[in-house]
Amino acid sequence: MYESAMVTRQELPDSERRREALSEAGYNVFGLSAADVYVDLLTDSGTGTMSTAQWAAYMGGDESYAGSESFEELVDAVESVLGFDRIVPAHQGRGAEHLLYGALVDEGDVVISNTHFDTTRAHVAAAGGEPADCPVDGAFDRETTGAFDGNLDVDAARALAQSVGPERVPVVVVTVTNNSAAGQPVSIENVRRARELADELDARLVIDGCRFAENAWFVTQREAGLRDSDVASAVRQQLSFADAVVVSGKKDGLVNIGGFVALADDEDALFERLRERAILYEGFYTYGGMAGREMAAMAVGLREAVDPAYLEARVGQVRELADLLEDRGVPVYRPVGGHAVYVDAAAALPEIPREQFPGQALVCAAYLEGGVRTVELGTFAFPGTDRPELVRLALPRRRYHREHVEHVAETFGTVVERGDATGLEVVDEPTRAELRHFSATLSPVSPTHD
Ligand SMILES: Cc1ncc(COP(=O)(O)O)c(C=O)c1O
Repeated sequence: MYESAMVTRQELPDSERRREALSEAGYNVFGLSAADVYVDLLTDSGTGTMSTAQWAAYMGGDESYAGSESFEELVDAVESVLGFDRIVPAHQGRGAEHLLYGALVDEGDVVISNTHFDTTRAHVAAAGGEPADCPVDGAFDRETTGAFDGNLDVDAARALAQSVGPERVPVVVVTVTNNSAAGQPVSIENVRRARELADELDARLVIDGCRFAENAWFVTQREAGLRDSDVASAVRQQLSFADAVVVSGKKDGLVNIGGFVALADDEDALFERLRERAILYEGFYTYGGMAGREMAAMAVGLREAVDPAYLEARVGQVRELADLLEDRGVPVYRPVGGHAVYVDAAAALPEIPREQFPGQALVCAAYLEGGVRTVELGTFAFPGTDRPELVRLALPRRRYHREHVEHVAETFGTVVERGDATGLEVVDEPTRAELRHFSATLSPVSPTHD
């Protein structure tokens, strides 16, 4: 249970203002001012509420350029929670990815993953590599019974590596939980098998551990032989298979900004290389683009993230939202993951053809109806793919209450029930296709919203 230690006043703008705001934003909710948003489920990244203990640590941050005590506190926390004592700090997850993949991936390499998150994909590609996804069968099915649908398909990954040539695969990446596959968890057994594969290929095993705690919570609930084990030891067990762990502190670090790469003890040369890259791209290797106070707050947040009571409340809220949505007739992906509920927009709005972006249409309609901001992760965000038309409702950590969750379910229920959302067409888009959903502008195909 939590009680509020600080509050923010929030108001639902009237429907006229919502119409105006959406039109001004070019029907892209990234362009909305937060003041025009009532419940913000755009992302769970950096949007959570810090605890009083984190604020206390924040106030005591050591802002020394080199050798900051706050960095030492962060190293201690990473060692005790994740089991690694070599860390290279970065300003956020993608900064850490830049350090790591820029050092490990060369032109023509192939990087295999359970599913690359978009910034991971972009950093692998920017280093000249080719990102290849091997999710398990059913990862994108709406109704699956798999306990660990986020897993890497190790056999498919092995076959792929053999077909391209194992020497071209320097890295296998396992992302826990698998954000791009409906936030599904990954088992420890799967990571152990990924380790074996990496050894066979003479490749490194990297774990993207942004949501290490949420994933471990699922392990303790679902994995044979580990049910009822404690979260803290499940975290360390899972991560112990990795050569490197890349973390955005904005998720299970329970902070608003920050990140790091943690490295295994035998990675001396890589550690030196990443420290050099940190100096070049992020900041000195004892702050890496973070203020001392931010490192101090993350040190506390990492420890709080493995508290089972917190995780039960966190994952319970995601489950609660999914249940309420389903009660209102909204088709959601099952089982629900740890940080978000994913809605099948094609099933929710069957009257909107794929080329008119049913996912984005649902996102816009939910904003117009109830001031709720969510994000499309279908063919608008990933042009040229055959991904399902997903809309993600990501819950910020420790921020919203039951009333918010009910408001969101009511809003989506009304939109789906009415079934009169409007299809959209792209008016303007950036040159980099993979960045389209951040900045493209659209317009309604029929003038209903104008
Ligand atoms: C799985 C995963 N990896 C990497 C990142 C990148 O982290 P950041 O947003 O801090 O750059 C994210 C962010 O959402 C993520 O979900």
